[in-house]
Amino acid sequence: MTFIRVPKSWEIPEREVTSEATYFNRRRFLKTLAGASILPILGCQASEDADNELEATLNVPKLESIKTNPAFAEVDRPITNELLAGRYNNYYEFGTGKSIWQAAQSLPTDSWKVEVTGLVKNPRTYDLDDLQKKFPLEERIYRFRCVEAWSMVLPWIGFPMKRLMAEVEPTSKAQFVRFISYDNPKIRIGPSWSLGGKLPWPYTEGLSVEEMANELAFFAVGIYGHLLPKQHGAPIREVIPWKYGFKGAKSIVKIEFVESQPATFWNTIDSHEYDFEANVNPKKPHPRWSQATEKFIGKGEDFSWEKRETLLYNGYEEYVASLYV
Ligand code: MTE
Repeated sequence: MTFIRVPKSWEIPEREVTSEATYFNRRRFLKTLAGASILPILGCQASEDADNELEATLNVPKLESIKTNPAFAEVDRPITNELLAGRYNNYYEFGTGKSIWQAAQSLPTDSWKVEVTGLVKNPRTYDLDDLQKKFPLEERIYRFRCVEAWSMVLPWIGFPMKRLMAEVEPTSKAQFVRFISYDNPKIRIGPSWSLGGKLPWPYTEGLSVEEMANELAFFAVGIYGHLLPKQHGAPIREVIPWKYGFKGAKSIVKIEFVESQPATFWNTIDSHEYDFEANVNPKKPHPRWSQATEKFIGKGEDFSWEKRETLLYNGYEEYVASLYV
């Protein structure tokens, strides 16, 4: 007997990775044909226009004289090409596909403020200038592993979360922290699927305060030597390299210290598929696929991937294993 499994309406579709691979391979194919003057000019023009438009979204102000932290200057694989990372994103406010880079340009980032509140001695509201003045920026090359079993290597610019904690001073009651993304129902496209007609917007994520204080936990304001493009979560996002990518809320407007484990976007949708801790672990399969290997995107200029063994804690065991004994 053949069973046809009907996916639940809210599931992250496995097909995304494959469909994007097909898309990029098709582009490479089209370019080759264009070079051989086989394609009609019109098709080539559309592809060139899309390339130019993508590059324009990545043409954001540069961050000058930022030093790379020597402890995080390289990993065991090359940095993913910027033009690939900038058009292969997850940002559900702007759609469920990977090609949200155009839609994400409607995110309004002027006069951005981040409120730090809750169980802290010194609540603060920062604008981006304050953040950059108070917390010296550095570059870190981190592995990036999505729960969907693809991975990249990305050069983030930002500052360790523990610096911000030292300034706001969480009280002894604060056990967890909650990160809240910008949300505006007027510009949100959002998924067509829904949870009983409603998704738990805004996008939120959370950590324990011990996790937040870990050396690796990072706020990124830039990537590839410049400010964050909108598709990567401008103007400030979390980067937690030992956890699956969904833990890294984009476009943060509020950081709240709380007493108990907060509800988060994916965990509310399905706690079985997206557990709160979400540490990268090759031995713990996702209910719908194995996590033993991953598709590493980043070998070349095209969207060709390489199969890699998944590393426990994404290769950051020495920094974080002690958090989970
Ligand atoms: N943050 C918000 N606000 N909305 C999202 O949909 N997606 C998450 C995370 N942060 C998401 C988000 C997921 S599932 C991943 S894998 C990463 O962002 C992707 O980051 P990138 O697009 O910069 O690679």
